[in-house]
Amino acid sequence: MIIAIDGPAASGKGTLGKRLAAHYGYRHLDTGVIYRAVAKALLDAGFELTDEARAVAAAQALDPETFGDPALKSQAVGGAASVVSAIPAVRQALVDFQRQFAAGAPGAVLDGRDIGTVICPDADVKIFVVAAPEIRARRRTLEAEARGEPADEALILADILSRDERDRNRAAAPLKQATDAVLLDNSHLDIEGGVRAAIAIVEAVRAGRSRV
Ligand code: DC
Repeated sequence: MIIAIDGPAASGKGTLGKRLAAHYGYRHLDTGVIYRAVAKALLDAGFELTDEARAVAAAQALDPETFGDPALKSQAVGGAASVVSAIPAVRQALVDFQRQFAAGAPGAVLDGRDIGTVICPDADVKIFVVAAPEIRARRRTLEAEARGEPADEALILADILSRDERDRNRAAAPLKQATDAVLLDNSHLDIEGGVRAAIAIVEAVRAGRSRV
């Protein structure tokens, strides 16, 4: 079984993906990390984020061993990933890796922006996670503070809004809800509530009901 979870920045889809995968005993891929790794490789080498040839080369040279690097989680790398991910040739270079991951046994949960629309259009279950931008900014601020990092909530909100705008309006695989995805608004749910709602969606879809 393949579960596709898409949604905007800081919507909690990564945590949800991880928790769903643990619940079902499936493997989990946070596909945002892939674009973050490409962006970080360019930043580290001092290359322009819009340098298509170098970005494609970085995508082709991707090493999954680096996906756990905590530096990939920073706000700066996330913003850079949003720029790099708008290059169609970069996206193309990363398709096979994601599809191969999705196809492996016993099942997989992938989260990102275009999993249900482009990478796994035949996913068994598709969930589109949203939350109000102000709530996402608040959560990001609390997370940063918990890590002991300084956080400016207004700047974080501005960053979330500009990333939403870029991710939704790019020509290549824009962020949008697949027609057969179930919407999950977790604005007023905590993590546990979100996980319960997601499991209920998976169970309902598996039971053949179109509505939860
Ligand atoms: O989910 P995230 O914040 O880690 O994603 C970082 C950026 O990568 C995001 O702004 C857009 C891009 N991305 C994408 O284009 N497609 C994906 N499947 C996942 C992420």
